[in-house]
Amino acid sequence: MRAAFPSELRIPAGPSGLHGEWDLTVPGDKSISHRALMLGGLAPGRTQLSGVLESADCMATLAAMAQLGVRFERGAEPGVYFVDGSGGRLTEPNSAIDCGNSGTAMRLLAGIMAGQTFPVTLDGDASLRGRPMQRIAEPLALMGAKFEYAGPRGRAPFTVMGGGLNGIHYQSPTASAQVKSCVLLAGLYATGATAVTEPLLSRDHTERMLRQLGVAVETAGCTHRLLGTIDDLNPGVIEVPADISSAAFWMVAAAASPGCRLTLRGVGMNPTRTGLLDVLIRMGAQIEIGPVTAACEGGEPVADLVIWGGGLRGTEVHEDEIPRLVDEVPILAVAAVLAEGETRIDGAAELRVKESDRLSAMARGLVAMGAQIEELPDGLVIQGGGRLRGAELDAGHDHRIAMSLLMAGLFAEGETRMHGCAFIATSYPGFDMHLAQALEMRK
Ligand code: S3P
Repeated sequence: MRAAFPSELRIPAGPSGLHGEWDLTVPGDKSISHRALMLGGLAPGRTQLSGVLESADCMATLAAMAQLGVRFERGAEPGVYFVDGSGGRLTEPNSAIDCGNSGTAMRLLAGIMAGQTFPVTLDGDASLRGRPMQRIAEPLALMGAKFEYAGPRGRAPFTVMGGGLNGIHYQSPTASAQVKSCVLLAGLYATGATAVTEPLLSRDHTERMLRQLGVAVETAGCTHRLLGTIDDLNPGVIEVPADISSAAFWMVAAAASPGCRLTLRGVGMNPTRTGLLDVLIRMGAQIEIGPVTAACEGGEPVADLVIWGGGLRGTEVHEDEIPRLVDEVPILAVAAVLAEGETRIDGAAELRVKESDRLSAMARGLVAMGAQIEELPDGLVIQGGGRLRGAELDAGHDHRIAMSLLMAGLFAEGETRMHGCAFIATSYPGFDMHLAQALEMRK
């Protein structure tokens, strides 16, 4: 992994959109990489991982598991790791665990920590310290864990004192895979049955990986019931597909560029993550999804995608569709600006508690570029088809805001300068190199 990511990226003045053909493989899936590092670290014996995203967020999880006594050996190829797991019993770290910018690291690790018999303090950067943790503290407390906060209640840093957990059936008020996964991971250590019901189906990578490694999880509708314990977890071979949430930026740029043909290789096709594809197709995008295969035995579905650029038209996206594209709302807002007509996105209040308030960050950035956008309490109404002008922008500590607004910059008149780009390394190291390739395609 490269140590430093440029703090500023620029889109020089130039023709609008992408031109020509591009064949691209984006880095590994962030959500799946976190889970592979955690579950590999809990299984007894050696688990082999490939395609692991070597981004700051996932490396925070790796460092955390290493602090808890798990041994990682990096293979010769990028993204290959051999994990010598602990059999679920971790060792007490001698300092607080730093989750960096990563909500997934913090919330899932909290579930695992609740199953240990020693106290652990979890902390993170300024953005993560501002994010809601009550949503995991509440179910974990119902299971018997205790939380202590160094500062405001429900915020990091906090100490989890676990052990002696009881299973619960948790009715989650939010369609959050982090909350669901936290409870299921704690449930591995609980006496009695653990289940989670969520209001809408969120990404199911934890359930799939648990099954792949030998722990039965039954899903019926939006209820997930853990049928095994930590003692059922086996080591295995896990291949991480390319991250559809990283592919999303180029998908939108290509779909809105008449004459462009983009091939994206080995993209994760988990149906709980493919909402953006459905919406773009509804907006008129031409997307061919290649044969869907399993990344590895029992693993996640993957496919190659081909996107032909053309015109897009506005659409409506409501609450029921949000969990399947929750991280793609910022780039969807860019697609909407580039489309003809109005797009309405609502039921997306969760966007306000991500790495930043993504609804206002996107509205602010796109309005600065000349777009017409109304911000709703839980969404955005976007008038598409207007002209965009380049602007000087700040990423506001949020990787997806930076990358989304840079995509808008590819279609703007004049130069776009984005400050605060270092956060892009939390999810997409190498984005700057792919952007340089994209800029070549504008010539
Ligand atoms: C994630 C779940 C989502 C998503 C985040 C990754 C995960 O968060 O936004 O980027 O890996 O479980 P929520 O669970 O808060 O919706």
